[in-house]
Amino acid sequence: MAIGEDGPGGTGRNTGVERLMLGFSNLRETREQRPMVLTGGDGVFVIDEDGRRFLDASASFYCAALGYSNERLVAAAHRQMQAMPFYVSAQQRTVPAVIELAERMAAMSPIRDAHVAFGATGSEANEFALKFMRYRNMWRGQPKRKKMISRLGSYHGGTLMTAGLGGSKTLHDSFALPMEDHLLVSQPDFFNNGLPGETEDAFCDRLIAELEQVIADAGPEEVGAFIAEPLSFSAGLVIPPKDYFARVQAVLKQHDILFIDDEVITGYGRTGRMFGAETLGFQPDILCSAKAMSGAYFPISATIIDGDIYRDMEAHSDMQGMFAHAGTFAGHPVGAAVALEMLNIVEETDLPGEVTRKAPCFARRVNALADHPLVADVRTIGMAGAIQLKSEGAGAMAAGVLEGAAKLLATIAQDHGLIIRVTGPTAMIAPPLIISEAEIDQLFDTFSVALDAVTEQVNAAG
Ligand SMILES: Cc1ncc(COP(=O)(O)O)c(C=O)c1O
Repeated sequence: MAIGEDGPGGTGRNTGVERLMLGFSNLRETREQRPMVLTGGDGVFVIDEDGRRFLDASASFYCAALGYSNERLVAAAHRQMQAMPFYVSAQQRTVPAVIELAERMAAMSPIRDAHVAFGATGSEANEFALKFMRYRNMWRGQPKRKKMISRLGSYHGGTLMTAGLGGSKTLHDSFALPMEDHLLVSQPDFFNNGLPGETEDAFCDRLIAELEQVIADAGPEEVGAFIAEPLSFSAGLVIPPKDYFARVQAVLKQHDILFIDDEVITGYGRTGRMFGAETLGFQPDILCSAKAMSGAYFPISATIIDGDIYRDMEAHSDMQGMFAHAGTFAGHPVGAAVALEMLNIVEETDLPGEVTRKAPCFARRVNALADHPLVADVRTIGMAGAIQLKSEGAGAMAAGVLEGAAKLLATIAQDHGLIIRVTGPTAMIAPPLIISEAEIDQLFDTFSVALDAVTEQVNAAG
């Protein structure tokens, strides 16, 4: 198509992306402005089509734990491609890599007597967990026990069912999501949700009372599962009060409600332990993993379930003659081979231990931003940090600058060679876990330059 011939509804400019719909982007913007197009990677850096290098402080949706040029993961994919590029794992057939990966993941997960079902994406891992909960409860003669509790602001996926977990009313309404089995509770975000004068303990008491009330109102025998990320990144890196998860778990146990632990972001060392449940101190019934599970080099996910749940499911499948669930690419051989090599690397290099070793250096740089005039709060754990910007300031708000300060920060940071992700007023910093201390310094030096540039614009507007 020649320039200016970009079809009906076009802009007259050919950006080369008129037919592409990009998620979490403004569709019109994608059509009118060429997005960042990445053609290469080198450690924690990515390289765009114009040869510009960016330090990726987002690890691309918190995925690329080993960065963008790990030869071992590439070689593992290549070996599997040559040996057996694909076979579906279903109908009493599978491949060796899938068998071995299930063994290894069952052994290393905090789930008791674990059994593993694979998927392709994090959304699938969570959706399958919910499906399995229902399948089990049908077997147990509890067809009504299928309601799901999640926390507002959380993100558990993009399918019709998972999109209704967490999120916001605007999101639920805009896609007309089926919400009849969804129950929503507050995020354990003391900084943003605590009441004036409330202590953190009193805040936690209030959240537990809310959870109990939601269960009582729904009818405890109709609630099947509670799903949470150990740390909600979508809600701005919410680090819960210290007793929160232990107390949530106690309430769930009392009502026989399953605890689904969404470790899609937090798994594989991000928090300094293999899984966030270990860092935050709780014992889930089901654990969902994806993203860093293959270093993100190939789509694969896992739903890891407790032995008691498995036995009910096995009995149900026995009664029916088969477990009527599968996915063509659930446990793709190449993904499984890459995930096995990822596990080898994680164990050989003690990736969680490395995160713990580098965390003080990372935290020092996050915490140093706390006194910045534009910063309202900072939060950090392991190799993850959040810098929440102030949202008040009359003049700057009127000029629309403070409202969009975090977005502006991301744009200016990108102009300076740094990719960050923002969620609401919060800048999220979660680079590949292999980042060196020198690169951590480079990251925060650039971030500070961008933050000062935003502050200048805010001051000029205010
Ligand atoms: C915590 C969490 N759960 C689930 C998902 C969904 O994973 P996917 O995008 O692979 O479907 C995401 C994706 O960002 C996530 O952050």
